[in-house]
This record gives sequence, C-alpha cells and structure tokens, in this order.
Amino acid sequence: MKQTVRDIDVAGKYVLVRVDFNVPLAHGKVADDARLRATLPTIEFLRKRKAKVILISHLGRPKGTVKESLRLTPVAAHLSELLELPVRTAPDCIGSAAASAAHALQPGDVLLLENVRFHPEEEQNDPDFARRLASLADIFVNDAFGAAHRAHASTQGITAYVPGVAGLLMEKEIATLSQLLQSPRKPFVAVIGGAKISTKIGVLTNLLQQVDVFVLGGGIANTLLKAQGIAVGESLVEDGLIPVAAEFIAQAEEANVTVLLPRDAVVGLVGAAATAGRVVEIDAIPVDTMIGDIGPATVKDVKAVLASAGTVLWNGPLGLFEEERFAGSTRAIAQTLADCSATTIVGGGETVAAVERYGAADGISHLSTGGGATLEFLEGKSLPGVAALQDA
Ligand code: 3PG
Repeated sequence: MKQTVRDIDVAGKYVLVRVDFNVPLAHGKVADDARLRATLPTIEFLRKRKAKVILISHLGRPKGTVKESLRLTPVAAHLSELLELPVRTAPDCIGSAAASAAHALQPGDVLLLENVRFHPEEEQNDPDFARRLASLADIFVNDAFGAAHRAHASTQGITAYVPGVAGLLMEKEIATLSQLLQSPRKPFVAVIGGAKISTKIGVLTNLLQQVDVFVLGGGIANTLLKAQGIAVGESLVEDGLIPVAAEFIAQAEEANVTVLLPRDAVVGLVGAAATAGRVVEIDAIPVDTMIGDIGPATVKDVKAVLASAGTVLWNGPLGLFEEERFAGSTRAIAQTLADCSATTIVGGGETVAAVERYGAADGISHLSTGGGATLEFLEGKSLPGVAALQDA
C-alpha cells in the first residue's frame, strides 16, 4: 500500500502532479479525453484543499527534442473546459519559465508545464533533471498510472528529491487491478485478444492462478489454433511462438482452467476491407483467406460464459474491428459487458476505444487508463512509478 493525496496536507503547497495526458490529437484538438477526465478527481481534490497544482506530462514520443505538434497547448485548452477554469501553461517544464509560472500560482490554481519529453534527460532518468523538476514542488503526486511502467525522471527519479504519493486515479487503478490478481469475484473470465501472443503471454501465464475461463481471440487464438494443428490460411500467426502456445494450453489444462477458443470464424480475403466476411467452421478455413473475427457460434459461447461470470477482464479485441466485416464480436462483447452483472474491467487503448465506439463505456466498472502499464501490472511486474512512492 502506498500513501495517497489523502494522507498529506497540501494547503498552500506547490504540488507537482505527474499525469498521463498522452492523448490522441486530431486537427490540433484532443480527440479522446478519457485520460484527462480520469485525472479530474485528483486535480479537484487538490484544488479544494488549496494546493497550488502544477501538472506535468509527456505527449507522444518526441525523443528529447521540441516538436511543435506535440506541445501540450491543446490539452491545456481542453482541460480548462473540463475544469471550468483557465489552466495556465509554461513554455518549458524546467528553468526560469517553469519556476516563474509556478510562483505566480495562487492556492487552487492549475498550471500545465510543457511536454517533459522535449528533454532527453526525462527518458534517461537523469538525476540532475529530476532534481530540477523536484525544485518546483513541495510534494510530488504520481497520478500517471499509464506511464508508471516507465522509470523516467518525472515518474521515478524525482522521488529521490521530493516525497511522492499516489493520486486518486493511481490509487484506483492499483486497487482495482490488485483485486483482480488477488481475490476476484468468481468465476473470473479473462477475455484476451489482440494481434500477438508474444505481447500477452506474460499476462496469460500470470492470470492462470486466478482465472476460471480464458476466452481467446485475435491473432493470439490463431497461434493457439495452429499449435493444435488447425490450418488457419493466411491468418496472422507468430510461428516462432507455437511451442509457447502449446505449453500454455498444457499449463491451463493442468490448472483446470477452461480455454475457450473459436469454433467458427469470420474469414475474408486479405486487404479486401470493403467485401463481406464469410462464416466458416474453424477446421475449414479456406487457404487463401484470413481469420478476421471469431464467428457467431463462438460469440454465443462467449455470451453464455459472460452471463455467469463474477468478474470479467477484457484486454484486446477478438477481431479486426476497424473493418466492419470483422467488427461483430467486438461490438457484441462490448454490449454484453455493459449489460452484465459481473465486475467488468477493460484495459488497453484499443479495447477501451472499442467500448467507447459501441457506446458501452458507461456500463463498465473500470476502464483502465493504462496500455503497457496495465499489461505489466497484470503480468505481476512491479511498476517503477508506483514502487518509488512512499509506503503507507
Ligand atoms: C501510454 O500511452 O501507454 C503511456 O502514455 C506511455 O507512453 P509510452 O509508451 O510512450 O511510454
């Protein structure tokens, strides 16, 4: 357990809050503000308690140089609307520009510093850079769960110079995901998709201890199917991972965990997005087609499993839902989860985007703001940005 903003006195203090405002931009505007909205409870909490709030974030991967397209100006504008308060900005996150903007703050004011990754020292976790960031603050708050798997100056190094506690979003993410790993309401169903089994095998293996049923789709399922001798045509497969896939199936059997693989599929010709998909049995995939989605009979199986679940984790779409011909299962699962009585947790950028696209977000118990961070947490790894905070 880590200390949180609830454990400290912030009145009149300069509080530097690391946030993950790494959000998609389109035409100079914030295209998806989920990560901004998720941080509002922490910002409001600090403002109410008369803190001088200094926000710091990365945006994109500018690789240590100033990139005009990755300035945080549109984010500050959007945040101002959400907070109904003018959010101040500074043209840099260190040096005199940052210091004078910070000193001008009154209790309850909010300042957003410029993209911390404009400095190469951020990702290098440079101690001097971390010390300069820390010099702006009396207290450090890490609310950037999405960046907590990075050992960078603004997520980890800074805590050597100023005490760090968790923000309310960070606290919620850790509590929710820890519960999933330690004592989920049973039965626990993990729906895991996405393109590559190589990126999910750590999560699959770690969840074996707790999960009752795995529902697997996407490229992950293709590799598992091939490991079982099923011909998958032109489908995406990681051939090098076939032994790992076979080993996972064996481990699941040994642990008495049900692995639900597709028994039918929607197939199509590669690169023919405008054509309709075709439903075929899983052992009858035409050699010149690829699997784009799990089929309707499998969707029915999945719905039956979800209906009696106590907890559902969903990470990774089961089909290529960007193409309408392959969107069926992703839409159906999003809507089923929104309506089901289980505790539902959705993680991963694409999966959260799918849930939002199908209007199901309000029905989900927890939408994780992490991509890589959520995966690493579910793999059982310690996140440097969390480990660096003060113990409760
Ligand atoms: C994310 O979007 O997953 C986080 O903001 C981390 O971004 P990064 O992968 O560029 O470190």
